[in-house]
Amino acid sequence: MPVTAVAPANIAFIKYWGLADRALGVPANQSLSMTLSRCVSRCTVDTIKGPDEVWWHEDGRARPADPVFAARVVEHLDRLRAFAEVDVSMRIITTNSFPTAAGIASSASGFAALTLAALTRVDAAVDPGRLSILARKSGSGSAARSVLGGYVLWPEDSEDPASAATTFLPREHWALSDVIAVVDSGPKATSSREGHFRASTSPHFGRRVELLGERLQRVRTALRERDFATLAEAVEEEMYEMQAIATTSRPPLRYWRPGTLRVLERIEALRASGVPVCATTDAGPNVHALCPDDAVTAVAAALSDDCETIIIDKVGAGPALSSEH
Ligand code: DP6
Repeated sequence: MPVTAVAPANIAFIKYWGLADRALGVPANQSLSMTLSRCVSRCTVDTIKGPDEVWWHEDGRARPADPVFAARVVEHLDRLRAFAEVDVSMRIITTNSFPTAAGIASSASGFAALTLAALTRVDAAVDPGRLSILARKSGSGSAARSVLGGYVLWPEDSEDPASAATTFLPREHWALSDVIAVVDSGPKATSSREGHFRASTSPHFGRRVELLGERLQRVRTALRERDFATLAEAVEEEMYEMQAIATTSRPPLRYWRPGTLRVLERIEALRASGVPVCATTDAGPNVHALCPDDAVTAVAAALSDDCETIIIDKVGAGPALSSEH
């Protein structure tokens, strides 16, 4: 029987940006994210005879996946087979509920779903810690966080960058929403992978890593105390700092587009008018407007004129196996 897993994307308040060890793919710093609920990847895995097959399902039909993506999936399957000590070929059918590669962590949800579905299909024991470490080895570090729901810290041990993600607070703790202003739904010009490699070429990177613990601490306290104003300040500082590292990398990386700035200005004006909202961006032009649930309507209405689409999401429960294939 095929196995289907659904795993959510996540949005980082404190970003994973840069590597401590390139070869092992371990991060330079601890990051903290909110797992989403509507932006998900769905992955169906079955064992087959013959070589592995990787299919992409979109608009009601499946077609062979792009060869570069398929090769990355098969490489990850090899890792999972080695872990589970099995030697079987697999058919993978994968799909996203949101624009692929538009800076909405599609590889995080995709590789989290693939890891869970494939290991379940071959009856391997899958506790969240093991899932997190294996998902990270796909090359999508943020996949390590998409295996858990709520507010997630990764790596859990500040002294061990190779450690798993852990739940910092459950989603029931605070109902935050993420109003995603899709400024440009096309694929990003430079992958986050390349951004991580280049981060250490920024003259400011070392200082960022040194000082980041204090900002992480403020975010942790703000989340624990449901203090939106403190959270907003720290999250926006972090957004600007990550983009500063990217733009001062050699060669520079500029992820924002003119539309990104228009949305950021709207968010600033909204906040000045008393709406609790703050912004964050990833390795792409789209803006995540974070706010308490009861501010969603006002935020979405204010941003809709300045973007292609609005996706309204909120903190979610994490991945699950599905009975629908
Ligand atoms: C800017 O290497 O995990 O989103 O695999 O492309 O999703 P993808 O990226 P990954 O880097 C994530 C970088 C980030 C910040 C973050 O999510 O922490």
